[in-house]
Formats: sequence, structure tokens, C-alpha cells
Amino acid sequence: MMKYVIGGNWKMKRGIQDSIDVAKEMVNELEKYDNIEIFIAPSYTSLRDLAKIFEGTNIKLAAQNMHEKDKGSYTGEISPVWLKDCGCEYVILGHSERRRVYNESSERINEKVLKALEIGLKPVLCVGESAEERNNGQAEEINGTQLEVSLKEVSSEQIQNFVIAYEPVWAINSRALNPVGEIRAATRKEAEEMHNFIRNWLVNQYGDEIGNSIPLQYGGSVDKDNCKKFFTVDNINGGLVGTASIKATDFEPIVGTASELMK
Ligand code: 13P
Repeated sequence: MMKYVIGGNWKMKRGIQDSIDVAKEMVNELEKYDNIEIFIAPSYTSLRDLAKIFEGTNIKLAAQNMHEKDKGSYTGEISPVWLKDCGCEYVILGHSERRRVYNESSERINEKVLKALEIGLKPVLCVGESAEERNNGQAEEINGTQLEVSLKEVSSEQIQNFVIAYEPVWAINSRALNPVGEIRAATRKEAEEMHNFIRNWLVNQYGDEIGNSIPLQYGGSVDKDNCKKFFTVDNINGGLVGTASIKATDFEPIVGTASELMK
């Protein structure tokens, strides 16, 4: 059975002292789960503090985004080289908030993906369709195109460093993405169908053995009550958690559920 990968995306929700406090709690709460791959993506400003707190523990550090160049005149951007220097092992790329709020195209995400690989950061590549796209019957087409363009020129060897996260835009607890209306987690069936589609896409592209070895995370309103529903789907190998990752008491039971399922 593939090891579950559970990621916490803190977005812009935890300040410097908050991050230190929560990270210390996470280390205590999560140290018993040595059968799970865990990463936390705090704000850039907390990376150095959290690298020290997570050193020697089972929690890996992730960045929420990066620029596609090493350095240069790019005001307000973050160099992937320095993220690596800060101790990041993973980098989230193509999150829907980047794609849809900041207009990052799949072509640009592909440049970031290739740069992350060059530098030795593991990409957590996010894909996902909007409610409108789903209602128009375009969900597979949208996710397929995002995968195809974002993964252009990624070799069979390189793809083995990836985590792919399926995060339907309508399920993400984000008013930036979903300004009005209900936000709900996907049903088991909705998640299962799209995860099967993504798995098949990877197998077609990279062959059985490699395609089946890449962890697929579900993201979008995952919490301690619904995570088991997702983690028991064949092609769901973990979760990318937003809201329920910013408190140790909410995140721990999610990691615990995955850990129990490994036994
Ligand atoms: P929520 O868990 O808050 O819906 O966020 C999901 C997400 O965007 C994680 O990257």
C-alpha cells in the first residue's frame, strides 16, 4: 500500500508567532505517526523558524509557491533556490488560488515545475475545475489539460518526485475562489471519478508502474469527519488540507485516520 501523503497548506492565515506555536504543537501531536508523509506549507516569512522546529522530526517543510527563475529583477517574488536554502523539500505549484486569482497559466506553472525539479524541490502540483466547468461537463477536459500543459517535458524519472493534488475549485473553503454560495467537500463518488481519471492519465503517460506509484491527494474542505471517506478511495493517497491544517487539534485526527488505515 502506498504511504499516505498529508499536507497542510496554511495559506496567508498564520503570522510569525502563531506559526511557531502551532508548529511546536504539531511536532508533539504528530511524532507518533511515522508511517505517514507529512508536510506543512507556512508563509514564506515563517519558513526559517519552522525549518528549525521541524528539523529531525517527521514533518517536512513546503513552500506555497515560487518564481520560475533563480533570481533577478522580479519585485515581490520568491526564488526557488532560497526556498531550498530555507529547508523546503516540497513546493505547492498551480494551486487554484494562484491559477484563478493571480491568473497563473498552466504554461507558467510548467516553467515553475521544471525549475523546481532542477533545484531539487518536489512539486505538489494542483489541478481542479470550477463549478461552472463541472456543470458544463468539462471537468475531465480541464483537469486533463492542466496536467498535460503543467507536466510538459517532465520525464518518467522526474514524475516520481511529484505529488498531484486534485482540488475542485468549488470545494475549496476560500471566498477568494468562491465569493458566494455554498462551499462543500466533494462526495466520495465525485472525488473517486476524478482521481480515477487522473490515475489513468498518469498511467497512459508514464506507464503502469510509474503512473500507479505517484501519490494523489484530494483537497477541498477536508476535515477530521470526512477524511476517512476520501482516504478509503483506491486512487486517493492523501489529502491537501487548508482550513483544518492551521490548528494541531484539527490536523492531528486527519493524519491519525490515515495512519490507522495503513495498519
Ligand atoms: P480548505 O481545506 O480550506 O478547503 O483548503 C483546501 C486547499 O486549498 C488546500 O490547498
